Amino acid sequence: MTEAPYLTGRARLAGIMGWPVGHSLSPRLHGHWLRRHGIDGAYVPLAVPPERLEQALRALPVLGFRGCNLTIPHKSAALTLIDRATPLAHRIGAVNTVVVEADGTLSGDNTDGFGFLASLAAGHPGWRAEAGPAVLLGAGGAARAVTVALLDAGAPEVRLLNRTPDRAQKLAAGLDGPVVAVPWAERAAALDGAALLVNTTSLGMAGQPPLVLSLEALPRTTLVADVVYTPLITPLLAVARAHGNPVVDGLGMLLHQARPGFRAWFGVESEVDDELRAAVVAGLGAEP
Ligand SMILES: NC(=O)c1ccc[n+]([C@@H]2O[C@H](COP(=O)([O-])OP(=O)(O)OC[C@H]3O[C@@H](n4cnc5c(N)ncnc54)[C@H](OP(=O)(O)O)[C@@H]3O)[C@@H](O)[C@H]2O)c1
Repeated sequence: MTEAPYLTGRARLAGIMGWPVGHSLSPRLHGHWLRRHGIDGAYVPLAVPPERLEQALRALPVLGFRGCNLTIPHKSAALTLIDRATPLAHRIGAVNTVVVEADGTLSGDNTDGFGFLASLAAGHPGWRAEAGPAVLLGAGGAARAVTVALLDAGAPEVRLLNRTPDRAQKLAAGLDGPVVAVPWAERAAALDGAALLVNTTSLGMAGQPPLVLSLEALPRTTLVADVVYTPLITPLLAVARAHGNPVVDGLGMLLHQARPGFRAWFGVESEVDDELRAAVVAGLGAEP
């Protein structure tokens, strides 16, 4: 790793806006890449309350920032506050990566779906979205990004199940493609014939109840993924592993979604490897 201990007056700047932002692992993640590549740059936490988001975004070019990431609760609100967003960000209804253009205008994209697919590809190179139906639990922001990504990657069917059925129905109705809303109570039966099972609810996260789901109907070849990464092995992944299924934890999605922003702001291609993973896991207070 090349050390870059001091910033110069020409240092490139980026950061993450959230409220709160203290829990974010992104400064550690980008900080690791900045140090590894010896880049004259900084990535900082930006605690921005919702009512100051527009002001904060508009301040980015004024302060010489190259851009920023957005986290809870800003991802949807930012879509209408920036100058342009990619069609993908519009379909997902959220922006997580903002780039300050040369003329000072703000462009936005959503890289969460990319991060999810890249994480599956890294964990299980043989897995293909076309292989069969995907069962997706949840209908919030993460579900939206993952569903759009799976459709774009060629999933023949996405079965959406959410505790609040309205949200799953609205999400399915708002997306072009083979997405069906299935009642939450039928989640065990919905696993029949699935090629992928993804938890995008907050169930299983430290401090939240576990996801209660019988995997009896799940083929043992089905890839099981969780977007929750605290803990890394959620109760769902532990049960899936015991059932004999391959599993992918939620940390890879977080690491991979950061790559396009890093490239845009700091001009360098970054890599997701064991060293990065260990550095970020250390920020979770867990063992790599
Ligand atoms: N790995 C990554 O990079 C990454 C990226 C984004 C998010 N995440 C994680 O993904 C999770 C969801 O984030 P989000 O932004 O999608 O949140 P969100 O928009 O608030 O959605 C939360 C989802 O969880 C469901 N849920 C919450 N409590 C539940 C319960 N007790 N029983 C059943 N369902 C419940 C909600 O169902 P209702 O609609 O019924 O409330 C909803 O579908 C969080 O843990 C977040 O940290 C990870």
